[in-house]
Amino acid sequence: MDFDFNRLISRENTSCVKYDLRQVIFGNPNVLPMWVADMDIPAPDFIIDALRQRLNHPVLGYTFRDNHYHNAITWWYKHLHGWDIDTAWIDFCPGVVSGLSHAIRAFTKPGDAVIIQPPVYRPFFTTVSANNRKLVLNPLIENNGQYTFNYDLLEKQVAQGARMLILSNPHNPIGKLWSKEELLKLGEICIRYNLIIVSDEIHSDLVFEGNTHFSIASLSEKLAASTITFASISKTFNLAGLASGFVIIPNPELKARFAAELEASGAGMGNIFGFEALKAAFTPQGEEWLKKFMQHLDSNWDFLSRGISRFSKIKVHKPDATYLVWADFRETNLTDDQLNKLLVHEAGLGFSPGTEYGQQGLGFQRINIACPVQTIELALKRLDKIAKYLE
Ligand SMILES: Cc1ncc(COP(=O)(O)O)c(C=O)c1O
Repeated sequence: MDFDFNRLISRENTSCVKYDLRQVIFGNPNVLPMWVADMDIPAPDFIIDALRQRLNHPVLGYTFRDNHYHNAITWWYKHLHGWDIDTAWIDFCPGVVSGLSHAIRAFTKPGDAVIIQPPVYRPFFTTVSANNRKLVLNPLIENNGQYTFNYDLLEKQVAQGARMLILSNPHNPIGKLWSKEELLKLGEICIRYNLIIVSDEIHSDLVFEGNTHFSIASLSEKLAASTITFASISKTFNLAGLASGFVIIPNPELKARFAAELEASGAGMGNIFGFEALKAAFTPQGEEWLKKFMQHLDSNWDFLSRGISRFSKIKVHKPDATYLVWADFRETNLTDDQLNKLLVHEAGLGFSPGTEYGQQGLGFQRINIACPVQTIELALKRLDKIAKYLE
């Protein structure tokens, strides 16, 4: 099967956040949008066909998740992630961000400390704070673009009574896959202090060849018993607008508490199209599409990294996974304000400013490369407009 990942599709006037909110977000309606984590690549035909097929029946009443849905998830996890999960461990969430919020409410009380590891996805900060929990920062340690966990600080923080750790794996925005050893060391601290681990693994299918993603819950029975794992079809197959995620909770007591929280908030029903899409996605066809898509992403990365190498003050490392490139502009010595203004108003580029991910993102920009290669070519040309600051 051939897929054309370089087909240019206009997304303007489709009520899409990435294009149609450029004026609101950037104050420039013409930026080349390489920010929010969705792709300028159509969802695969076999998923769109499955949705059309469902629309051939004109009644879209209340729905439930059938065996086919659950089996599709277990097949995908066993086959792609080497994790044998039981269908009884699976529940729904209306998107991973909403799932994080439900988990915070299900497993902690107002005022409880919840740990996150910046630089990290903005809603990790906001879901904790908006639920009146105490946000505790356990920043990653950075050395020449390589990141590690700060275990010593974590140990102090959990000893002071934190209740939950929210993990990003692969880590958005840095694109790192945490190794088995790193996860086990982190997990050992969490288990010792009875911490609940919430593992956001929404990008975990998007792994570059040669790398492996490990779900922390798959690494031991004890970790399985204290981990809530969130994932979705939304990043892998570009279906974020379906607002449909899922959660894996091997511990029946924790699963019941999560389900009770979903019920209390009336959010447990889900979306018929999300379920149909998942059944079409988590299949051998989906696997084949993903393999080809990752090859496309690999060549986009090559194109970007070769092009960017002429700007000596921008440093990039290949992500292990995700379509997000964490670009280090610190050598330009520009303030974030100056850098953002130059990128947006002089170059016409809409990246995600690193400051979105916490103080640790100062001087960085996150670049979304899930697009036709022509977009990257244009981005490099636009960077030329501010080359004097970057060389
Ligand atoms: C780490 C991470 N978690 C969650 C989400 C959003 O998930 P959802 O759209 O299912 O709420 C994103 C989207 O960018 C993400 O990067």
